[in-house]
Amino acid sequence: MKIWAVANQKGGVGKTTTAISLAGWLSLKNKKTLLVDLDPHGSMTSYFGLDPDSLEKSVYRVFQKAAAKQHMDINEVIQTTRFDNLSILPASTAIATLDKQLGSREGMGLVLAKQLLNLKDQYDYIFIDCPPMLGVLMINALAACHQLLIPVQTEHLALKGLDRMLRTLKMINRVRKAPLDYAIIPTMFDRRTRAAIECLRIMQKSYDPKALKKTIIPVDTKFREASSKGVPLPIYGSQTRGSKAYNLLLDTLLVE
Ligand SMILES: Nc1ncnc2c1ncn2[C@@H]1O[C@H](COP(=O)(O)OP(=O)(O)OP(=O)(O)O)[C@@H](O)[C@H]1O
Ligand SMILES: [Mg+2]
Repeated sequence: MKIWAVANQKGGVGKTTTAISLAGWLSLKNKKTLLVDLDPHGSMTSYFGLDPDSLEKSVYRVFQKAAAKQHMDINEVIQTTRFDNLSILPASTAIATLDKQLGSREGMGLVLAKQLLNLKDQYDYIFIDCPPMLGVLMINALAACHQLLIPVQTEHLALKGLDRMLRTLKMINRVRKAPLDYAIIPTMFDRRTRAAIECLRIMQKSYDPKALKKTIIPVDTKFREASSKGVPLPIYGSQTRGSKAYNLLLDTLLVE
């Protein structure tokens, strides 16, 4: 079982889209895949037709039970989707309160890591979608994953978000036994604009070439179309530009 966290401390850079698209491809390749939504906005949860405002079975319960030191089978809150091989551990808006409730409590940073270990015979791959802010949820995701994926929109302002995320990673690495492996994924690239080309050039010049992915995710209006239908883009249209790019990206992630 391999676990990826998808995070960036900037909003709207393609985190949820990246998690859903890579998971969509893996499910098409008959790999048992789980999506974990750790964002209080619950965009991923809504994508699959669940309502984060009214869900009772959500990742919130996992943290509550852990805080109360009560046993819990994580399978109680995992739901199948209407797509083969694709399950979701949904978010509820209540997880926004977890920082206040648990932030300073000892041991709460490893809740998800411990629970996901119990799933190692059930799933081949897991993607954790993170909120854009640093807190107990992101800490949990970073502790649970084998690799961090950082989608970065190819526009100038987005580089600040990337820098912030890399600083967070540095801080996390100070308390880890080994540094967490990470990959930077340029997203929403519009090759017709000068700003996007310039931004990509700066990324290539300024960031670790081992981490910066050569596969670039292009702008593709089909992402919004697929999202309005609640279908991962690779399942909606495997031959769209965006789908093909995520498949290439997946190939490079699987050989690492
Ligand atoms: N490559 C792309 N081309 C065109 N639109 C895209 C692309 N990637 C994502 N989008 C669209 O951009 C919007 C933001 O993407 P997404 O929700 O994945 O970002 P996010 O980083 O998860 O945002 P948030 O921080 O709010 O959770 C969505 O409407 C999505 O459909
Ligand atoms: Mg999101």
